Amino acid sequence: MLTGKTIVLGVTGGIAVYKAADLASKLTQAGAVVRVIMTKNALEFVTPLTFEALTSNSVIIDMFDTDAEHRINHIALSEIADVIVIVPATANVMAKITGGLADDMLTTTVLATHAPVIFAPAMHTAMWENPVTRENSAKLVNRGYYIIEPAVGRLASGGLGQGRLPETEVIISHIKMVLGQKGDLAGKRIVVTAGGTHEPIDPVRVISNRSSGKMGYALAEAARDRGAEVTLITTPTALNRPVGIRISEVETAVQMQKEVAKAVIDTHALIMAAAVADYQVAETSVNKIKKERGDLTLKLVHTPDILAEVKGTFLKIGFAAESQDLIANARKKVKNKKLDLVVANDITEEHSGFGADTNKVVLIGKDGMPENLAVMSKRAVADRILDRVVRLLVDQPKA
Ligand code: C5P
Repeated sequence: MLTGKTIVLGVTGGIAVYKAADLASKLTQAGAVVRVIMTKNALEFVTPLTFEALTSNSVIIDMFDTDAEHRINHIALSEIADVIVIVPATANVMAKITGGLADDMLTTTVLATHAPVIFAPAMHTAMWENPVTRENSAKLVNRGYYIIEPAVGRLASGGLGQGRLPETEVIISHIKMVLGQKGDLAGKRIVVTAGGTHEPIDPVRVISNRSSGKMGYALAEAARDRGAEVTLITTPTALNRPVGIRISEVETAVQMQKEVAKAVIDTHALIMAAAVADYQVAETSVNKIKKERGDLTLKLVHTPDILAEVKGTFLKIGFAAESQDLIANARKKVKNKKLDLVVANDITEEHSGFGADTNKVVLIGKDGMPENLAVMSKRAVADRILDRVVRLLVDQPKA
């Protein structure tokens, strides 16, 4: 989704500028056209050559540059930008833009643009916490600018606190989210479940499965990047919490059912990518079961079938992980659980299923016709599923 997008990267003078180089590189590799504007203070930390080499574009610094290559209409970039992102953003640049100053190329471009502007502040904790920066920050947000909260951690000054520039991946997620706001799921609310549930045996042990949560997280992020308002109901996973998504953490099938019931009020679609355990222990032991007790027999009872039992007029999308009779089982699931779409995958196939970054799935709707997708990344699978969701929402808009 970054391919062909013009991203104006404003670089101001803070020690975190070296991380802006990584961002410029990753955005360029992702296919974006990156146009860098540096402030004079940024030049004290890094030379324009770094960004020129990484982006294959000249870097703009001075509005009054007489060099032909740099002599560019002072608002040209503000007009061609799909998004402007200021990384790192100093307290100084935040204050200038709050006050409407336009005394260099970066502030002039921000003042003149209609494109969304994202600030990624990085500064000493005391500067971040200073009431004037707090006030400026709040004013910028009120005016529709985006601010990526600085991370907490070790600062260049040696201390610990809030003020670190977030990781490049976090900044890229924000850029994608902002770019996607007018996407084909804009104004739609989507609930996604992810991960394998943990059904406790005693306070220490659980019954679970091999789900990594990757498919559900990919769906949540893809929906967010197409403009949807996303709620992700997740079990514990090793994945980073995605930005810009409401997250609800659960462990068991019963907890997940409760959260799903709350989240689907007024939703457009529920996508159950979670691997919900089919059984739970009939009676969870309050104390740790001692091995001295000898062999152990556990009585398992069914968990609620969340997808089959949930009520509402929203689209219902389920997953079917099968090791045999894929299509027949998936068709049965569409009928029995009254689904609009089933994403079926044969877990015995290579490149498919648990833990992998790729998946090979078949999509089956109410008509029972299989749409076989090739092996692709889970993110690409997510987008294909969402293409079907978009079409289904056109055919049967929510009441
Ligand atoms: O019936 P089966 O477990 O194969 O169905 C899989 C689909 O149903 C998945 O979308 C899964 O998230 C959902 N499911 C559920 N509640 C369960 C078991 C599965 O919602 N107890």
